Amino acid sequence: MTKLRSHLMKSLALALLLLPGISLASSEGGAMESAQIDLTDKAALQRGASLYMNYCSSCHSLSYQRYSRMGEDLGLTKEQVEQNLIFTDAKIGETIDTGMDAANATAWLGKAPPDLSVVARTKAEGADWIYNYLKSFYVDESRPMGWNNTVFPGASMPHVLWEMQGMQHPVLEPKRKGANGEEEACHAGEVGGQCIKGFVIPDAQKGSMDAEQYDRVARDLSTFLAYVGEPSAVKRESMGVWVVLFLAFLTFLAYLLKVEYWRDVH
Ligand code: HEC
Repeated sequence: MTKLRSHLMKSLALALLLLPGISLASSEGGAMESAQIDLTDKAALQRGASLYMNYCSSCHSLSYQRYSRMGEDLGLTKEQVEQNLIFTDAKIGETIDTGMDAANATAWLGKAPPDLSVVARTKAEGADWIYNYLKSFYVDESRPMGWNNTVFPGASMPHVLWEMQGMQHPVLEPKRKGANGEEEACHAGEVGGQCIKGFVIPDAQKGSMDAEQYDRVARDLSTFLAYVGEPSAVKRESMGVWVVLFLAFLTFLAYLLKVEYWRDVH
């Protein structure tokens, strides 16, 4: 009897663990800050889509994603998508391509901007990587575009959101010495042999937003790109809770059945 019960509990625990979209333990992202994205947050997804179309789509394509599908998933009408989110001559049924020519982009930036359809999935840290990347641009005159990034050192992408965030400058500290007297590697990039320990934004170079507002911009964009990387995740996450309730209900039924069967045996 107790054996059966513990078996049932184990099955339920296993079923819960195997449920897609529900992670019981969140992974530690190293030095990265968690983006705390919520794929069921339609408003965040809509803001992210709008930010993406305004600030990113001129360089990056999302060639696995159609405008129409995006509209459906984000709860937008065909008209809303056409009026607010399509900036090229694309039709609603087409994929989200950039207006920029790859050869021109390479000539200008030194590198063609990659397609971002699955970028949130190709990074080990997922959407957190994008969130941290968007927050880690800093002024570096030695770079062709005048920008560098601690999450992606030497990136050839300029900081396209600088008017919102402002212009970050690195705060430096000498490299630490380890127990054996050797210099340790820096956590987040280095400039002139010193480690970057943080950023400051001089008053004259403040952006239109404060840090909290800009965090939300970075989070909305990360949420949107996480969705684009796995469009079905939006539906799955909202289904997850029903699946758990359903399983709990099934377990309860199984338990009642068991009680019923064993009644005669005893
Ligand atoms: C002016 C063109 C341009 C714009 C606008 C732009 N990017 Fe980029 N982006 C690039 C280039 C070029 C790279 C490649 C950098 C490299 O490999 O050095 C890149 C790389 C990236 C990467 C890393 C891709 C990878 O596979 O590692 C991400 C993520 C990214 N961009 C996100 C964004 C987001 C989000 C926006 C809008 C807020 C944006 N980009 C706007 C040019 C641009």
